[in-house]
Amino acid sequence: NGYHTCGSNDTLASAHPSDSRKGHDMTTSSVSPVTTELAGSETGITLVIHAGAGSRGKHSTPERIAQVELDLQRALDAGYQLLESGAPAHEAVVAAIHVMEDAPEFNAGRGAALTSDGIAQMDACLMTGDGEVGAVTGVSTVKNPIDAARAVKEQTKHVLFADPTDAEIADWGVATESNEYFITEPARRQSLAEAQSGGDEWEKHGTIGAVARDAEGNIAAGTSTGGITNQMHGRVGDSPLPGCGTFANQSTVAVSCTGIGEAFIKVVAAHQVSDRVRFSGENVEDAATATLDEVAAHHGDGGMIVLPAVGRGVVAYNSEMMNFGYRSAQGGKVQG
Ligand code: GLY
Repeated sequence: NGYHTCGSNDTLASAHPSDSRKGHDMTTSSVSPVTTELAGSETGITLVIHAGAGSRGKHSTPERIAQVELDLQRALDAGYQLLESGAPAHEAVVAAIHVMEDAPEFNAGRGAALTSDGIAQMDACLMTGDGEVGAVTGVSTVKNPIDAARAVKEQTKHVLFADPTDAEIADWGVATESNEYFITEPARRQSLAEAQSGGDEWEKHGTIGAVARDAEGNIAAGTSTGGITNQMHGRVGDSPLPGCGTFANQSTVAVSCTGIGEAFIKVVAAHQVSDRVRFSGENVEDAATATLDEVAAHHGDGGMIVLPAVGRGVVAYNSEMMNFGYRSAQGGKVQG
């Protein structure tokens, strides 16, 4: 799917890499009213996934949309089969994210957006409703960044690693690839060139994520991203930051966000949804809508998927469109 212009998904608008220091040129941004859709069942196993939100650009074609929907379906199948077999929510989240990280259509793993110096620097976070969380930022060789996030959560006493060493990555037992593996030609280089030349930049990919509820009723959330095209070296978005782009609390909700990370960080978006449910008594749909309104106040567009421990999930976005899918005992849907 095509995304273009600043304010649309995962693209940093700037005429030149040095201009990116000024932040986003929001002059072309168009933040829409929030669109919401209920997803999944009230109770029982449910999986909701997303693969970015933004605007349809000139590169969007029926073939591309069909490919995105195929990949979303494969991701749903991988995660949902695990839930059906009784696996915990976080395993379904990881399985669904794996498929989307491996698919070059999306801005995560293979196909990640490129930094201003032309490399893939990826972020990921995995959190379970019991508050356990692991995250990585700036990884450039981990084949599936969500695996590294899971390793941080399960194998270390820490929460977030920035640019972990080769030895740490080897110790975690996660698969690696050279940075070239992640760079899909010509799409990502073309996207970077367009962003750097101030032309009609576009972004056909999006940050990906998943939220799941397992047969025990436990919830989990995960997010994986290549960040924003033409981002400065070392820039960190919302995805790997617990509470910003990813959050899970068993007494409230599991959340994964996509969009312009800076705006989601400023309003601590994922945690804000949880707090609205927990302290204001808002329903999940209202909480997601109100939080995206705050994101919009910071000139950010994008979306989120939210799944409570009890109740239907919500897909919400204030951009033109969002790629998402969901499945539960009541059936499912994919939208490319
Ligand atoms: N939402 C992904 C990022 O801003 O990096």
